[in-house]
Amino acid sequence: MSETKTDTPKKLFIKTYGCQMNVYDSERMAESLEGYVQTDRPEDADMILLNTCHIREKAAEKVYSELGRMKPLKELNPNLKIGVAGCVAQAEGAEIMRRQPAVDLVVGPQSYHRLPQMEAQVRAGRSALDTDFPEEDKFAHLKGRSKARRAPAAFLTVQEGCDKFCAFCVVPYTRGAEVSRPADRVVREARDLVERGVREVTLLGQNVNAYHGGMTLAELIRALAKVDGLERIRYTTSHPNDMDDDLIAAHADTDKLMPYLHLPVQSGSDRILKRMNRSHTAESYLRLIERIREVRPDIMMSGDFIVGFPEETEADFQATLDLVEAVNYGYAYSFKYSTRPGTPAAERPQVDAAEADERLQRLQALITRQQRAIQESMVGRDLSVLVEKAGRNAGQMLGKSEYLHAVHIDNAKAQIGDVVPVRITRAMTNSLTAVEI
Ligand code: SAH
Ligand code: SF4
Ligand code: F3S
Repeated sequence: MSETKTDTPKKLFIKTYGCQMNVYDSERMAESLEGYVQTDRPEDADMILLNTCHIREKAAEKVYSELGRMKPLKELNPNLKIGVAGCVAQAEGAEIMRRQPAVDLVVGPQSYHRLPQMEAQVRAGRSALDTDFPEEDKFAHLKGRSKARRAPAAFLTVQEGCDKFCAFCVVPYTRGAEVSRPADRVVREARDLVERGVREVTLLGQNVNAYHGGMTLAELIRALAKVDGLERIRYTTSHPNDMDDDLIAAHADTDKLMPYLHLPVQSGSDRILKRMNRSHTAESYLRLIERIREVRPDIMMSGDFIVGFPEETEADFQATLDLVEAVNYGYAYSFKYSTRPGTPAAERPQVDAAEADERLQRLQALITRQQRAIQESMVGRDLSVLVEKAGRNAGQMLGKSEYLHAVHIDNAKAQIGDVVPVRITRAMTNSLTAVEI
């Protein structure tokens, strides 16, 4: 019995919270842990890794309740080791092991290349903690991606970290200073992904348009557009101040670059933007969108908003609603301000929680209205869809339009990985239905 146990590969359960960068990191961590296969059942796992997010208080607290739920699994499987990765690991370090002694391993986002040694250390019965910002590039030292077949759409991290220090945000502390990966490595990784079935890459970075890996982001996009078999390119998240003329031009001259742009603004009030340390105004943001729409009139805009930032008045909030009206977003994400220890805004006079809740509801109602109107305006239009998987109903396939809508294709002939022209027949709240044309 015990012999069979050592012969079978160990099982790894990873749960990912937070942003797309964590999704990418989780894939890379799984590939770097040799001798493990992934499982989606924590009760079967020999290693549980929580890849965590620290952006809002709720996100961070979720990790501790999840750890509480995982702890009893150690009694069922004495070989089980529990690790915490990601931004909570970086922000709280050894404190995590003090608060939850069932945790064996804590690894910050810049140290994932050290994970295999850390795993060996915990297997040898010692706990492992690494939250350094080492000199070496974690991706250069992470094991190469495996050759296994992939889903048609993949994330590819090209830049990490942030030097902007918005007054509310933990990212500059948890992810460190801006670092870009060399362009030739990014292109090589994109080629590998294409060989494994990928047709669309989303280039990731906390400030992806500040990319400077030997070329600019616009130049990198054009270099990737030359990769045969790669059909679609996206990038996220951008900062308004790093949206240069050439990147705007790329939206007109590079067919493979999809007409979708996530460009967070956070607030429509200049007074609040200043206090947030955003270094742009509502007006400069609106002018920027105008310039982008001049070259790409159909571009689908997406944004992020924070309501209830310290000292936000009703008039400030009204300015946010006005900005949302002016932009007309296809997608927008809004959050109630969450006080993050160690950030400058944490020290300032806070907005009443009930007031902030009420503003959040009003903003979300406006955003939902806009989103619905845009979804409905798609009915009867011809879009192109990258087919990603089988749909829920028989004969249906599910994919994404160039504008990032989820699209169900009825009676589909197209296969996973195809990019097909479709006509939209119906709009639902979160998706569209279509037929092939
Ligand atoms: N680098 C990106 C995304 C950062 S985090 C950017 O600059 O836009 C994603 C979103 O979380 C932010 O855009 C912001 O809207 C939100 N966010 C960040 N810190 C927050 C906080 N303390 N409280 C509430 N929302 C926050
Ligand atoms: Fe956070 Fe601002 Fe950096 Fe975005 S730009 S990651 S919101 S500090
Ligand atoms: Fe969260 Fe870290 Fe991403 S705080 S949003 S996981 S960069």
